[in-house]
Amino acid sequence: MMYDTIIIGAGAAGMMCAAQSKGRVLLIDHAKAPGEKIRISGGGRCNFTNMHTTPDNFLSQNSHFCKSALRRYSQWDFISLVSDHGIAYHEKTLGQLFCDGSAKQIIAMLRSEMERARAELRLRCAVTALCKTEDGFALELTQDGQTSSAQCRQLVIATGGKSIPKMGATGFAYDVADQFDIPLTETRAALVPLTFSDARFKPLAGTALKARISNASATFDEGMLFTHRGLSGPSILQISSYWREGEVIFVNLIPDIPLYDLLRTQRQAQGRRNLTTELAHHLPARLVEYLTAHLALSGNLADQSDARLIEICSALKAWPLTPNGSEGYRTAEVTLGGIDTDALSSKTMMSKTVPDLYFIGEAVDVTGWLGGYNFQWAWSSGWAAAQALNSRA
Ligand code: FDA
Repeated sequence: MMYDTIIIGAGAAGMMCAAQSKGRVLLIDHAKAPGEKIRISGGGRCNFTNMHTTPDNFLSQNSHFCKSALRRYSQWDFISLVSDHGIAYHEKTLGQLFCDGSAKQIIAMLRSEMERARAELRLRCAVTALCKTEDGFALELTQDGQTSSAQCRQLVIATGGKSIPKMGATGFAYDVADQFDIPLTETRAALVPLTFSDARFKPLAGTALKARISNASATFDEGMLFTHRGLSGPSILQISSYWREGEVIFVNLIPDIPLYDLLRTQRQAQGRRNLTTELAHHLPARLVEYLTAHLALSGNLADQSDARLIEICSALKAWPLTPNGSEGYRTAEVTLGGIDTDALSSKTMMSKTVPDLYFIGEAVDVTGWLGGYNFQWAWSSGWAAAQALNSRA
């Protein structure tokens, strides 16, 4: 069967691309349902975009690459699609938009757009071989134990990254890139909890607070969660994309208060108050208990010299921690790195060396921050590829 376009991967990017593509389009996925990551995203409500999306919210070896697609199909375009489908949504925090109801509404919306475009969806279908032909590509497919073949003029790889193999993630896009000598940048788990070699935070597991996490390249001011294995929560997931093994991160446990000034004022006004009682006004009780041992906190406020207060404040405001690793692809929300953007057109997502071969979504070396940016990249890159497919069909 000859198709104008075959898209491999019915995730966010592949579904958007299929919905926007004209002609005879086949969308293939080895999973039993499309958009599985959409379904589980945002705690089942899908943080489908971010109102504040700019190219600065993305990591890539080429920071300019994402600009064209994000500008031509922006967060506002996706928001208006969501509105046109009558899907109610709200801003949770920091521009992050979530469905009021269920992430399944986003999948249903994309499916109905795909139906409108008459794209064919084939699930539980694996690609066992693919090669370039004179007028496009030939694929060997296996579905329910049956082998078949399909040909297309244009081929789109939308199989995402390696995050959460249990959900069907594979390195398929990277294998296709290898097959066609298309370069890759180093891939690693990102937006992922960080771990420590010992169980130091076990007594604190489940404790959450707002914290400012920094390293040499970035700072994030969001929630942090202690876990049995280390640290998690939005600010940790964010910094994980910028962290490398052996590097230290600094944790500001009380980011919003000028703590030294406050402790000095309180020493004057409430000198007989216990230091830990004062800290418990600003930190969770279990954390104060932990820090009491860790920083040898003792005595009343009046007992603390200026020098001691400075010591305590710097320990609480720039706590240096060196994780030994991350939880890896098992729990990572995304894969950093991927298809080298130098090998693709930023306008069309087409390979510069293999005409009619496209890569979109997370497979490409464009990785968003936490907060709806990764879906926005999937929508924008999927849309950009579709415009090019339509103009070449
Ligand atoms: P995606 O991974 O969505 O789709 C790839 C598709 O290809 C899948 O359907 C897969 O089955 C298929 N596939 C893979 N290998 C194949 C093969 N060999 N043959 C056939 N099919 C194959 N982002 C965000 O912006 N807001 C959010 O709220 C969240 N939340 C979130 C939660 C969790 C738990 C995770 C893991 C991730 C998120 N993300 C997110 C990230 C977001 O889900 C991700 O960036 C996008 O889904 C990427 O879209 P793609 O279409 O590129 O890949």
